[in-house]
Amino acid sequence: MKIAILPGDGIGTEIVAEAVKVLKVLDLPFEMESALVGGAAYDAHGHPLPEATLKLAQAADAVLFGAVGDWKYDKLERQYRPEQAILGLRKHLGLFANFRPAICYEQLTHASSLKPELVAGLDILIIRELTGDISFGQPRGRRTAVDGHFPGAPEAFDTMRYSKPEIERIAHVAFQAARKRRGRVTSVDKANVLETFQFWKDVVTEVHAQYPDVALDHLYVDNAAMQLVKAPKAFDVIVTGNMFGDILSDEAAMLTGSIGMLPSASLDRNNKGLYEPSHGSAPDIAGKGIANPLATILSAAMMLRYSLQQPDAAARIEQAVQAVLAAGLRTGDIWSEGTQRVGTREMGDAVVAAITGKTITKT
Ligand code: IPM
Ligand code: MG
Repeated sequence: MKIAILPGDGIGTEIVAEAVKVLKVLDLPFEMESALVGGAAYDAHGHPLPEATLKLAQAADAVLFGAVGDWKYDKLERQYRPEQAILGLRKHLGLFANFRPAICYEQLTHASSLKPELVAGLDILIIRELTGDISFGQPRGRRTAVDGHFPGAPEAFDTMRYSKPEIERIAHVAFQAARKRRGRVTSVDKANVLETFQFWKDVVTEVHAQYPDVALDHLYVDNAAMQLVKAPKAFDVIVTGNMFGDILSDEAAMLTGSIGMLPSASLDRNNKGLYEPSHGSAPDIAGKGIANPLATILSAAMMLRYSLQQPDAAARIEQAVQAVLAAGLRTGDIWSEGTQRVGTREMGDAVVAAITGKTITKT
């Protein structure tokens, strides 16, 4: 089993190091190879996704990714910005299905900004289409307006588009995922205004005919954003397009108390995948040794389950994370009165200790 390790920028290198440590103690036949990506790759090779990094990712069975981006690259031409690395990987590897679970751990109920009773036991899964929509639609760019409110003025434009097969395949992924859960899919659209999302709704409804055992409902994205903070537990699986999924998954992440806890998987049609924490590179805390490595460690668990067919090893990691939380260890983002504040490395060490059966210090 070959795993490409792409730590990236900011806290990416710190948190991925902890996940690698955890993978190593599992004693499975992994071959891990790292490469630069994002701003780090730009600095070293002049491109955020160098050919060699892409080749390594393509040749691997799975990719473990940290995070990319730093404000210092904001002035670069778009093609050289760190974010292009993750967009390029998604595109070149065909990673169209993005799984972003939002699970509220029992011990962290009080870390949420919502009332504990609204989030206790929360377990929802956002399935975001990841290679289409306005993020990839052509044409895009800048030009002089020929019509609109200000003809002759400079303007910028992007193209929102979805083809039928693109919607069909993500709908199948969502219905199949719901079957293994509580059997409910909410499709989020903006069919009241956008042609693209009326089409989305029509196609999802058509695919649903093949899944009579799964319940389907539809919400407009603005309403979905509201329902997510009003009654988040009413959701099971949410399926939506690239842009709405980007926004709603950050919102859902925050319901759980910390985005520092949430893993994600981006899969191709054969379940090869890229695994990354749902959070970003957090340049403001990079290098301080305080970032929460659990989202990345849990992403490694998802990788074992979805791409490497090692469900037992995945469960071992997940149980170890539970044990560490139960023992009261917390990084700053999830710390609360009465728990023990630890750094990135100590948190990783504690997970390793829980896996290998050593005791964890209690507060
Ligand atoms: C995400 C991020 C990315 C996206 C950026 C970094 C390109 O926000 O993974 O949610 O927009 O998809
Ligand atoms: Mg995002």
